[in-house]
Amino acid sequence: MDFKEKVVELVKTKVDLPEEKISELIERPKNPKMGDYAFPAFILAKTLHKNPAEIASEIASDLSSEDFTNIQAVGPYVNFAINPQKLIATTLEDVLTQKENYGQQELGHGNVPIDMSSPNIAKPMSMGHLRSTVIGNSIAKILKKVGYTPIKINYLGDYGTQFGKLISAYKHWGSEEDVKKDPIMNLFHYYVKFHEEAEKDPALDDEGREWFKKLEEGDPEAVKLWQWFREVSLQDFKRIYKELGVTFDSYNGEAFFNDKMQPVIDELKEKNLLHESRGAQVVDMGEGENPAIIVKSDGTSIYLTRDLAAAEWRKKEYDFVKMLYVVGGEQANHFVELKTVLKKMGYDWADEIYHIPFGLITQGGKKLSTRKGNVVFLDQVLRDAVSLAKEQIEAKNPNLENKDQVAHDVGVGAVVFHDLKNDRLDNFDFDLEEVVRFEGDTGPYVQYTNARAQSVLRKAKAMGKEAAPAKNLSDEWSFAVAKDLADFPRIIARASDKFEPSIIAKYALNLAKKFNKYYANVKILTDDEYLAERLSLVEATSIVLTAALELLGVNAPKEM
Ligand code: ARG
Repeated sequence: MDFKEKVVELVKTKVDLPEEKISELIERPKNPKMGDYAFPAFILAKTLHKNPAEIASEIASDLSSEDFTNIQAVGPYVNFAINPQKLIATTLEDVLTQKENYGQQELGHGNVPIDMSSPNIAKPMSMGHLRSTVIGNSIAKILKKVGYTPIKINYLGDYGTQFGKLISAYKHWGSEEDVKKDPIMNLFHYYVKFHEEAEKDPALDDEGREWFKKLEEGDPEAVKLWQWFREVSLQDFKRIYKELGVTFDSYNGEAFFNDKMQPVIDELKEKNLLHESRGAQVVDMGEGENPAIIVKSDGTSIYLTRDLAAAEWRKKEYDFVKMLYVVGGEQANHFVELKTVLKKMGYDWADEIYHIPFGLITQGGKKLSTRKGNVVFLDQVLRDAVSLAKEQIEAKNPNLENKDQVAHDVGVGAVVFHDLKNDRLDNFDFDLEEVVRFEGDTGPYVQYTNARAQSVLRKAKAMGKEAAPAKNLSDEWSFAVAKDLADFPRIIARASDKFEPSIIAKYALNLAKKFNKYYANVKILTDDEYLAERLSLVEATSIVLTAALELLGVNAPKEM
């Protein structure tokens, strides 16, 4: 049992408040000398008509438990100091019996589609799409750990008028050979060239429109080219997903909903929600807000209409309990419109739709530009990270087996960890050297700490020693580590509640720091009667560090 719950149980015997209320009230004193938990007795002053200090000492008087070394009234608070030996023993036992399932809990259940990554075909994947990919992937893992069934959906941007332009551009300047060589880069070049040329020659725009019309009408050549562009682009994207270790349950992108939009438009009409405004069909958003456009004046439907169709389809297909869209903050208004229109249609499940926005990645304080060709850039970032990691491994551990695999785990893990350690909404700067460092607040630092723990366990094994239940450990270094280990389930719960992977990343960094202090201050492998107990602390730490990294989508090599 969690020690906070033990405090609740004790307080409950003295105070006439519901359990949940007591649990809510319990604080963590800022000054650790004041104990590990505090109950603010002054809360009861009004109802009991007594002075707070008096109430505190009444509660504290004859309360005792072997789980706490001290229960004492200090001013208006009742302070509880955990018995280190007890906490260390129970926590290590929990971790070592549950192993990688430690932290698994049932906070909810049911399907949760996560709309994530969703790059646009024939365009380089941007850093924004990378963020969406790693944040979505981590949220999926966190939700799974608390009982939900995540469904990772890549809502590819694989349809729209731009494909008419692209086909037209390809017909003018494209070659099959070039597209095969480097699909996204070349398709992107054609598209950019199209825009340059169309400035000079507006007839091109008509041509682009013409091709889009053909595509809509199912013209075989247009459809074939579009399919081919989609396929080669997707192959390029999949290479990056493979590097990151991210998989998807569905690639139903925008095109999948082509034939599902008209029914939504009809439904809006039937429900009397649609009206005309300047030639467009719109839904009102309420006082002072711009209406949401459903069908443009030229008769084409738009991004929002597709998302409406997709949301309805997913509700039928998955009967979800929540649905998340991991998409940059600049699309906030779009998701407000999406939810509002669904609500107006009478779908209460729209309340369970969450837009999960995130900040920008900058370099030297400036926003990264897509123009520089981010596919090469993203691939290149990962490759550079891996080779930087390899250099450091060569220096530290030249005889390591699977050097390449480890360098990959460390390099890619470093980039992912860096993306996830900041509050999701913060903008952050990207400096590769910094990201891949083995010291500081980095992924490699956490991985290295875990590998250090594993190395201790290997050495112990060579001495013929194994972990055994810790009954006697009570030193401050072990206590600090064990307190963090005990917090893990609560940390996961908070991360899932806020859809915030950074809570896990920060936790992993702190745990790693505490373990390294322990490592620096305690001679673990000394062959005395407590060696086996110390090993259990080392093993439990490694289990939790590995699990925390896993929740972020980062591998934890056993040696590095
Ligand atoms: N493809 C879009 C973009 O790159 C993101 C799609 C987000 N998902 C959605 N259901 N609208 O901006």
